Amino acid sequence: MKVIKVLNNKEVGKMTAELILENIHSNPSIVLGLATGSTPESTYEYLIGDFKKNKTDWSKVRTFNLDEYVGLEPTHKKSYRYFMDEKLFKSVNINIKNTHVPNGINNTDPEAYDKLIAENGGIDLQLLGIGTNGHIGFNEPGTSFESLTSVVDLAQETIDVNSRFFASIDEVPKQAISMGLQSIMNAKKVVLIAIGKNKAEAIKQLVNGNISINWPCTVLQKHKDVTIIVDEEAASLI
Ligand code: GLP
Repeated sequence: MKVIKVLNNKEVGKMTAELILENIHSNPSIVLGLATGSTPESTYEYLIGDFKKNKTDWSKVRTFNLDEYVGLEPTHKKSYRYFMDEKLFKSVNINIKNTHVPNGINNTDPEAYDKLIAENGGIDLQLLGIGTNGHIGFNEPGTSFESLTSVVDLAQETIDVNSRFFASIDEVPKQAISMGLQSIMNAKKVVLIAIGKNKAEAIKQLVNGNISINWPCTVLQKHKDVTIIVDEEAASLI
């Protein structure tokens, strides 16, 4: 596990985007695993800036997002599909047909998502954020390390933390469809990013904690190619 500490949110975005760009340049039809939440926003802003300036070609890039809220249409403003369209896809020359986000409405065969990823050759580079409770994707504490894509219940802590994106806590979906921990571990390369003091404990567990389903992120200790990019606050306990 390689840990890179940088100063702030902006630097996390720059370093992460540069790493992603390097990988796109060496493999223009790369399969990227992408994440939502506030943490990757600075990365996506930098990628858009690069596209405007350097015209990096996204036309062959394929993407698979980690998760989606159950019950939200792809057009819903709080859906992760909408987030990705707005924050990245519409501002680079990606073919929208090459972008995949789990479907929060039609989700009777969640594992079809893992099959589709495998048919595309597997994820080359998986970008991850992390929850304050150590979740990755929406794999909450207690999730089996062998899990594949499935419909999952959100922990109360996650509902509370994510309520900042909704008008009221009652509007936060209670379930999501999420790639599983095994789905994430299948990626060839993992890049996890974290910003802020409220992530410090999760980062401490990720780097130094015992491998345990109580901290889902610790499964990554078993992966052979993980890079963690954190700001000073998120790194304050390691
Ligand atoms: C969300 C997402 C995760 C994300 C995490 C942190 O619930 N399902 O993929 O990494 O929580 O979010 P944020 O970056 O907003 O702190």
